[in-house]
Amino acid sequence: MFDDVARHYDRTNSVLSLGNSLIWRVLTVRAVAPQAGERILDLAAGTGTSSVALAKSGAHVVAVDFSAGMIEVGKRKHPSIEFVQADATALPFKTGEFDAVTISFGLRNIVDPKKALKEMYRVLKPGGRLVVCEFSKPPVAILRAGYNAYLKYVMPAVVDAASSNPQAYGYLAESIADWPDQTILSQWIRGAGFTRVAYRNVTAGVVALHRGRKPSRSTRSRAASKPDATEAETPSPTPPPTPRKPKP
Ligand SMILES: C[S@@+](CC[C@H](N)C(=O)[O-])C[C@H]1O[C@@H](n2cnc3c(N)ncnc32)[C@H](O)[C@@H]1O
Repeated sequence: MFDDVARHYDRTNSVLSLGNSLIWRVLTVRAVAPQAGERILDLAAGTGTSSVALAKSGAHVVAVDFSAGMIEVGKRKHPSIEFVQADATALPFKTGEFDAVTISFGLRNIVDPKKALKEMYRVLKPGGRLVVCEFSKPPVAILRAGYNAYLKYVMPAVVDAASSNPQAYGYLAESIADWPDQTILSQWIRGAGFTRVAYRNVTAGVVALHRGRKPSRSTRSRAASKPDATEAETPSPTPPPTPRKPKP
């Protein structure tokens, strides 16, 4: 499907997001905070628009996608970026190769997103950063209703006008509706092993920026000796009450 939409993918994106895609990219780059000399993995990178924004810092960005069509367009548009065709759930990289891993609007498209999160954890160095930018659920009911109406009625008309293959976008609204909200995705990220898990809503929660860290070696050894030392910035499920000691 992504092979079919590759040619006009970036243009359709800008139109569908009503120009917001640029803001989302800027905020994602800020959250990743790439540094010159770092090695950064941009997963499900598509045509590399997200990768080129990260590379401006002087970091070495590896753009991975499994659509040959998207990579072909990406290589033409951004010849300085290293593209690798691979599946995010079975990455051809060694454990601990990257300073940061990021994925923008890609996790939702991966058949097994939890497996992909585990791969992201594996290829990160201890202390490495994860940033996930993904569509989410506006927490305010009236905004959520307006957004759902946009997805159902306005977006199909916009896609007809802007995309090279409108049929391929038929699934987009559905995939956004089926995608878990901010709290559940935070739980998945924690479940893959990440600590310091947090998110911030952007554009009223239409998009959420999630982040996490692979614990550094010292944090991991402390956590091993203290089983519930996991840092969590987003609320964890309420712990069960501590059982009272029976009175003698
Ligand atoms: C909506 S595009 C996002 C592209 C880019 N990150 C951006 O922000 O414009 C989603 C991308 O996910 C890729 N994708 C889906 N499943 C994948 C997988 N298992 N491994 C690697 N890439 C995958 C698709 O080929 C597509 O290019």
